[in-house]
Amino acid sequence: MVNLESFGVFAVSILVQFLPDDVTVEAQVGESFLEVAQRAGVFIPTGCLLGTCHACEVELEGEGDIRACITSVPPGRSHLTINLFSDPTW
Ligand code: FES
Repeated sequence: MVNLESFGVFAVSILVQFLPDDVTVEAQVGESFLEVAQRAGVFIPTGCLLGTCHACEVELEGEGDIRACITSVPPGRSHLTINLFSDPTW
């Protein structure tokens, strides 16, 4: 078995907070925000799951609008906030 830590690779946990319901869950760098939300029991509408329909669009605080199905949890921050807004057209 390869010990990844010997190569400087560490599992990095990040807290992701979903608003407005204020649900916080631990996530791993590289996980999609959609996967994190589903694990936390937070509903994000979906459509194509390919990044083209924008049904899963949410606001990542400090970054702007992202598509949760294709955007991964980035490294470098210990806490991220996702704001869900409801789009009546979806
Ligand atoms: S589900 Fe279509 S862009 Fe994410």
